[in-house]
Amino acid sequence: MNGLLASLGVSNPVLAAPMAGGPTIPAMVAAATRAGSLGFLAGGYKTAEELAAQIGSLRGSTPVFGVNLFAPNPVPVDRDAYHRYAVAIQVEADQYGLDLTSISPLEDDDQWHAKVDLLRADPVAVVSFTFGIPDPSVIRDLHRAGSLLVQTVTTPEEARLAASSGVDALAVQGFGAGGHYGTLTPDHLPVPVALPDLVRQVRHVVALPLVAAGGLANRVDVAAVLQAGADAAMVGTVLLRTDESGASDPYKSALGEGGDRQTLVTRAFSGRPARALPNLFTARYDAIAPEGYPAIHHLTTPLRRAAAAAGDSDRINLWAGTGHASAQEGSAEKTLSRLAEAL
Ligand SMILES: Cc1cc2nc3c(=O)[nH]c(=O)nc-3n(C[C@H](O)[C@H](O)[C@H](O)COP(=O)(O)O)c2cc1C
Repeated sequence: MNGLLASLGVSNPVLAAPMAGGPTIPAMVAAATRAGSLGFLAGGYKTAEELAAQIGSLRGSTPVFGVNLFAPNPVPVDRDAYHRYAVAIQVEADQYGLDLTSISPLEDDDQWHAKVDLLRADPVAVVSFTFGIPDPSVIRDLHRAGSLLVQTVTTPEEARLAASSGVDALAVQGFGAGGHYGTLTPDHLPVPVALPDLVRQVRHVVALPLVAAGGLANRVDVAAVLQAGADAAMVGTVLLRTDESGASDPYKSALGEGGDRQTLVTRAFSGRPARALPNLFTARYDAIAPEGYPAIHHLTTPLRRAAAAAGDSDRINLWAGTGHASAQEGSAEKTLSRLAEAL
C-alpha cells in the first residue's frame, strides 16, 4: 500500500473510513486530503445520482479520493420473522405517527449496477467494497477504468478469497470496528481477535497491501497495526464528532456522552451485525431482531429518520467502534494528522 499510497500522493497512512448513513460528506473527504491522507465517499444507501453529485462536488478541489460501495451479498429475511419484528417495534414508531407494519420486505441491491456504471463512466482513484466481493467483470472493468480496488475482509479465509478476485489491496476490519461488520458471512458474529493479531494472520496468507481498521483510537493503536504488517490504518469512529462529520446532532451528542460505555454488536437496526453504543432500542430489540439485510434496514429507516429529526438518540443507530471514547470535536484534518504524528 505504501507504494500504492505514494503513487496517489498520499503521505499520511491514517486513512478516513467511508461511513454511510450521513457521517461521511464530501467535506470529510476533502479534510482527509488536507491531512495528506485519503478519504472515501460512502456510496452505500445513496442513489447513483446522489453519489454522482458528491463525486462532482469533490472533483475540482480534491482530485484523489476513494468511493466505497456495498457489494451485493443479501441475507434474505424470513417473512414471518420480519412481520413479527415489525409488530414488535411498532410501539416505537407510534410516537412518530409511522406505520411500520405495512412496509413490505424490500430486498434491493442498493443500486449496485447503476453505481458501478457511474464509476465505469466517471472513474475515481480508488474504489472499495464491503459486504460482498464483486463479480470478476466488475473488477476487470473498474481496473480498466484506472481505479485501484480495495476489498474489506474480516478473516484470513476472506482475505484469501478476496486476493484471488484480483483486487489491489485489502481493508482488514477487526471486531472492534464501528458500524457494520463487513464480513462475507453476516450470519456469523465477529470473532474477538485483536486487530494487530488479525493483521498478522492475514499477512501470513496474502501478499497484498493491507489497510487495518477497527477500534483504532490513538497513535499507539495505529503504530501497533503498522508494526504488525499493515501498510496503512483506517479510522471511522474517531472522526464522527469532528466539524466535517455529517453525523446527526443526537448521534454526535450521544457519542459525546458515551464515556467508557461498552459497545455491542447488534442486528436490531439493519438485520446485519453492526457495532453500536447501547440505547433504548438495542436494549428492547437486540435479543429479538431477526437476520435479514437489507429488509430490516429498510423497515427501521423511517423510524430512525424521524427520531434523528426529533433529536431522539434512543431510536437511532449509534454506530460506534470500541475506541469511541476518543472521538473528539475539532477538525478531521487535525485528528488524522495527530494520529499519524511520529509514525
Ligand atoms: C457510522 C459508520 C458508518 C460506516 N459505514 C461504512 C460504509 O459505508 N462502508 C464501509 O466499508 N465501512 C463502513 N464503516 C466501517 C468503516 O469502514 C471502518 O471499518 C470502521 O469505522 C473502523 O472502525 P472504527 O470505527 O472503530 O474506527 C462504517 C463505520 C461507522 C462508524
